[in-house]
Amino acid sequence: MSLPLIHLENITVAVDEVAGAKILLDSVNLEIPELSITALVGGSGSGKTTTGLAILRLLPLALSIESGKIFFNDEDLLKASKERIRKVRGGEISMVFQEPLNAFNPVFSIGYQIGEVLQVHTSLDRAQRQRRILELLDLVGLPYPKRMAKDYPHQLSGGMRQRAMIAQAIAGDPKLIIADEPTSNLDVTLQARIIELFKKLRSELKLSILLITHDLGMVEHMADHVAVMTQGKIVESGVTSDVLSNPKHQYTRELMEALM
Ligand SMILES: Nc1ncnc2c1ncn2[C@@H]1O[C@H](COP(=O)(O)OP(=O)(O)OP(=O)(O)O)[C@@H](O)[C@H]1O
Ligand SMILES: [Mg+2]
Repeated sequence: MSLPLIHLENITVAVDEVAGAKILLDSVNLEIPELSITALVGGSGSGKTTTGLAILRLLPLALSIESGKIFFNDEDLLKASKERIRKVRGGEISMVFQEPLNAFNPVFSIGYQIGEVLQVHTSLDRAQRQRRILELLDLVGLPYPKRMAKDYPHQLSGGMRQRAMIAQAIAGDPKLIIADEPTSNLDVTLQARIIELFKKLRSELKLSILLITHDLGMVEHMADHVAVMTQGKIVESGVTSDVLSNPKHQYTRELMEALM
């Protein structure tokens, strides 16, 4: 079998509290196969976002990685220099969030902010960047890219903003997108369209996606691999159809019952 694109090995994360250290991720092992959509599913507070942030070394200051390894191909990201990590963020791994307004700067246009990513992570010149911005907006299904590029984040609807954030996330031509509850703020119809967009981008851009969600229905429709997390631990993982047709852990069964 080929190496996974990302492999977390025994990652333990703790938070400093007045009363002492508390373990938030407890020896997490997670593989993201190349070109897969891998879901990380679990209840609120189980550690999903912490796992995603750890991969990009973006944990809040109070949290620290106590032990383990995070392989990106065969490079341990925990040993990478700050300069290297800056290249990885947005250039090889990017993240999209539930609320795109937080990801965009309100005082710059959408096009300008996508252009910034292109400037940092590609060798395109100014004119090529302008063309690429419009291509990216078109690729994520936004209408009138020329006009939309000039819009400010708050001028777009929620669904459009989510697409614009995805355009920004793919601008640096990453190999992995970490999507943290990317559709939780959208209604069901829009959710389905964003899921279709992720699938399209996966095959057209040869991307892998780590989908962070509490929604097992979404996992069923979208993910080929799944890892189930509760209380900072991965309790079960594997091919989605295998895990869902024959859940071995009590917590997975509870999640499935909640879905029925
Ligand atoms: N900056 C922080 N300081 C202290 N504790 C934190 C911090 N960030 C997260 N935690 C704790 O870490 C645990 C895991 O949080 P995390 O955000 O990873 O969960 P989650 O699975 O993403 O939940 P949700 O589905 O609600 O987004 C929680 O108990 C949370 O309270
Ligand atoms: Mg979260």
